[in-house]
Amino acid sequence: MKRNRLHPESIAVHIGVGQDPLYGAVSTPIYQTVTYQHPGQELGRYDYSRTENPTRTPLAEGLAALEGGAGASLFSSGMAAIVALFHLLKQGDHVVLTEDLYGGTYRVLVDVFDHFGLEYTFVDTRDLTVLEAAIRPQTRLIFLESPSNPLLMVTDIRAVSRLARQHNIWLAVDNTFMTALRQRPIDLGADFVVYSATKYLAGHNDVLAGALVSQDPDLAVRVAALANTTGGVLAPFDAWLVMRGIKTLAVRLDRQEANAQAIAAFLAEHPAVERVFYPGLAGHAGHALHRDQTTGPGAMVSFQLKDRDRHADMMNALHLVLPAVSLGGTESLITHPFTETHREFPEEIRLTLGIHPGLMRLSVGLENVDDLIDDLGQALDSLKG
Ligand SMILES: Cc1ncc(COP(=O)(O)O)c(C=O)c1O
Repeated sequence: MKRNRLHPESIAVHIGVGQDPLYGAVSTPIYQTVTYQHPGQELGRYDYSRTENPTRTPLAEGLAALEGGAGASLFSSGMAAIVALFHLLKQGDHVVLTEDLYGGTYRVLVDVFDHFGLEYTFVDTRDLTVLEAAIRPQTRLIFLESPSNPLLMVTDIRAVSRLARQHNIWLAVDNTFMTALRQRPIDLGADFVVYSATKYLAGHNDVLAGALVSQDPDLAVRVAALANTTGGVLAPFDAWLVMRGIKTLAVRLDRQEANAQAIAAFLAEHPAVERVFYPGLAGHAGHALHRDQTTGPGAMVSFQLKDRDRHADMMNALHLVLPAVSLGGTESLITHPFTETHREFPEEIRLTLGIHPGLMRLSVGLENVDDLIDDLGQALDSLKG
């Protein structure tokens, strides 16, 4: 079967199928083994599970096929994948990053890589002039989130990739919010796609996982060697959970997105809400660009409460939507970025970016949309008092 000719939904469903030579099991077996017998000195395809494992490998190959990449490596979390990407750099190298991005990416640079002499600048990557001005002779990598976390700002990935090429710099896109079924960074010119597979790819709030997909075969080999050397690889059972999750990604995204679109429209009309951030709304600054470079708006919705001090009251009043960090799973979750996902950012930066105490980030799940709107509506109505 020529897998690259298939539509992404079919590739996703067939990841890992046909991998059991012994019994023809349709679901990939969980090869819960560290090591592999080899007669004499002759090593087989697999010798040690830090290097490769027959449950992890089909998932890595399937993910690379889904992204149109040359190869993918799987990690024990999204952060481990991001760390592997930064490990491709050396002391004195410089990275330019989206300023409104996942707090953990900020923290690993400031608290870890800074000590090893990696330099970094956070900018508004939507502004190409600002982005280009931040590039130095030592810049090796541009790291984007589009849409960004938590403000869902949209960066022109094609334009940034052209800029990166002119300056001979790698471009990496954290595609966690979108997945390859909505946005294909490699087709848009990226060298790397980074995932917290914990989120939409796995999709059930039950497994931590990360992935780093490379466009270039040599870079894919370097990343695989790094994964093996540093050791933060994905365990067989966790690989199996991600593989199972990816099979339903297309239908989950369709429903979650439809729910999110309806919820964003509802929130935009609610008197307790000052502003809604959702690329699917025509009034969003990045609406047209996002539509041009994706096949859907995604299911993350952020909104600003008019009364910025009532975030805890709002969260406490919810019955169905769970106050919890993380995103992309079956259950709808609400987060308070100011004190949770983005608390690592100094307060003054949070406020400058627009991450105010009244900002809420909603990961819309698979519940019935009327139930979700009822729940959000009653919690917002309760703020009147
Ligand atoms: C956009 C984004 N990238 C990376 C990560 C880190 O992933 P993990 O929690 O799997 O380490 C997260 C986690 O929330 C995220 O939201």
